[in-house]
Amino acid sequence: MVRLAVNVDHVANVRQARGIDIPDPVTAALLVELAGAHGIVVHLREDRRHIQDRDVRILRQVIKTRLNLEMAATTEMIGIAREILPDIVTLVPEKRQELTTEGGLDVKGNFADLEKAIGELTGAGIAVSAFVDPEVAQIKASIEAGAAIVELHTGTYAEARDAEAKAIEIEKIAKAATFASKGGLKVSAGHGLNYRNIGGMSGIKEIEEMSIGHSIVARAIMVGMTQAVREMLALMG
Ligand code: PXP
Repeated sequence: MVRLAVNVDHVANVRQARGIDIPDPVTAALLVELAGAHGIVVHLREDRRHIQDRDVRILRQVIKTRLNLEMAATTEMIGIAREILPDIVTLVPEKRQELTTEGGLDVKGNFADLEKAIGELTGAGIAVSAFVDPEVAQIKASIEAGAAIVELHTGTYAEARDAEAKAIEIEKIAKAATFASKGGLKVSAGHGLNYRNIGGMSGIKEIEEMSIGHSIVARAIMVGMTQAVREMLALMG
């Protein structure tokens, strides 16, 4: 069974729009767990635009599944992760102006810094995941840098307009997943996955976990979090 990890950043976005204390992403995370999801993901951004330090600290104490902290590999974030000790840290590239993470991490191009960051996090007992484009060179670099997991970026697949373009992207993700798995990495995937396109991932047996945020929170606004999570779990089979 493929696991579902739900990113609750967008619940925090609604809270931050008013600068008050509701809706609380911690409450959302508890509902996500009760609905049967296997993990909670939050991205603590440098500008704190949605998730706050307090959210990560409380989530660490209250959730019963796995906490995956997405973050940039900065000194500040590494310090926070080493103190709060999430189960997983997913290292992502971060740009101030972006609406959401725009692509995979360039592990090859930033090898020395990332190898050091991964070493510091792994040394604290945290499993480190590198969010990378489905490219052999980046996966190879992730293995060499000491990552335990790669999360394959599915954004290009999600944005593909027609069946042919989608098939090309699925093929790339499948090849990358096989390469990563043979190299000893655990494989996750995420970004832009929704109720309509999740089916395309179903044939890739190496993918153990899907990380999904926006589409689930968007549906939860209409039908409630429990139903939104259950519907996605049903589609994942
Ligand atoms: N995985 C990573 C590394 C991400 O940065 C994001 C977006 O926060 C997601 C998964 C989830 O993407 P989406 O919100 O499009 O489902």
